[in-house]
Amino acid sequence: MPRNLKAAQETSSYVLDLIGKTSLTPAERKRVVKESVKYWVDHVNEGFLKYRKSVSTDYTAVEWEDGGSVFRDIHGREYIDMLGGFGIYVTGHRHPKVLKAVLDQLKRQGIHSQELIDPLRTYLARLLALITPGDLRFAFLSNSGTESVEGCLKMAMLTTGRRRLIGAVGGFHGKSLGSLGGTSKAVFREPFLPLLDWSHVPFGDVDALAQTMETCDFTGDRVAAVVLEPIQGEGGINVAPRGYLAAARELCDRYGAMLVLDEIQSGMGRTGKMFACDHEGVVPDLMALGKGLGGGVVPIGAVVGTQKTWERYIDNPFLHTTTFGGNPVCCAGAIATINVLLEEDLPRQAAEKGAYLLKQLGRLARRHPRVLVTSRGRGLMLGMEFVDHGTGYAVAKGLFKRGILISGTYINARVLRIEPPLTIGYPEIDRFLEALEDSIKQVGKKR
Ligand SMILES: Cc1ncc(COP(=O)(O)O)c(C=O)c1O
Repeated sequence: MPRNLKAAQETSSYVLDLIGKTSLTPAERKRVVKESVKYWVDHVNEGFLKYRKSVSTDYTAVEWEDGGSVFRDIHGREYIDMLGGFGIYVTGHRHPKVLKAVLDQLKRQGIHSQELIDPLRTYLARLLALITPGDLRFAFLSNSGTESVEGCLKMAMLTTGRRRLIGAVGGFHGKSLGSLGGTSKAVFREPFLPLLDWSHVPFGDVDALAQTMETCDFTGDRVAAVVLEPIQGEGGINVAPRGYLAAARELCDRYGAMLVLDEIQSGMGRTGKMFACDHEGVVPDLMALGKGLGGGVVPIGAVVGTQKTWERYIDNPFLHTTTFGGNPVCCAGAIATINVLLEEDLPRQAAEKGAYLLKQLGRLARRHPRVLVTSRGRGLMLGMEFVDHGTGYAVAKGLFKRGILISGTYINARVLRIEPPLTIGYPEIDRFLEALEDSIKQVGKKR
């Protein structure tokens, strides 16, 4: 496309005007939808539009605003958010306290100078040390989950002086060249091989992990880190069998490897405890955080580590740096998120609401076994497994028509996930369950 600075100036002025408006005319709405679809195709990625956003069936659902447990498209149609941005909205959409903290901080300072001590980073690091289990103590603040995983990998390699990494089949840790190695699906990895030195073991299989670690030790290909999600999100909401994380902890200690737990999706209260590893009382050497840490308002992630994992990094803090990670605006959002999680006891709420949902889903599966096979998960990190991919997708489409957003998982296409805001009310949960049964019945009739 030829450069045109005049057009760029006009377009940016027009969009700034739109952003500043509290309401749009029907003509403006129509224009935004038309242009968004066109520009997505022309400048973003047509493939993505067709594949991923197609649950909106006719591509006219352009999201515009949100609050609480719902978001609205530009025409004002409201959707209950049962997807929760793949686990982002732990405190709901734009929780007033999170929003206030971010806006207050923005009025004072946006991005830090990079040279002086920025206080909010230090307060957030302390809060993370206070809410994470065991002796986790130091935090490196990042801009995303993927960056948090990258940080964990580097800290583990630095601490152990080793390169071998072990992940699990069904695992998802991001798509940057380091984290992608841990992500387990061929379609994402193959075009970029070779990646770092990763091996994968079946998730939940203690013997397989023990054997692999023993082999690595025997051959001198010693393990830097075992990287696991306590509950695999993209893999299809697979809860680690009881004792698995403890066994991984024990094996890491035996072979001098770091245990890295990726709590990017499962952390921040989502599973009914502050972190999913708290269900098992297992403390990792390094924890990766993201998604919910920013309360659905700001993008922020964190690598949280023990004294041991930070020692080499303290010797040379320039080994891992970031310009935007831990900026004051995002820290303000994360500090408010932690405050809301604790003050509103959201982990407990997630546990109770999740138990209620799981029970109802079990009933649904018994009533409609030819469509819904089973449901599983913990707290508000739940999955529904359908008979096949097409059926799950059809149910999701039916739900969208009924004003509810839900989506599948990246690695296991038969599973739809349920990860609503932890603040969701029971009336919304019941509306979801009703719409779900309607959609299942309709899909069942066609099959
Ligand atoms: C467990 C897990 N790890 C890492 C990531 C990557 O995080 P991000 O997309 O914020 O980079 C995700 C994202 O879905 C995730 O669920």
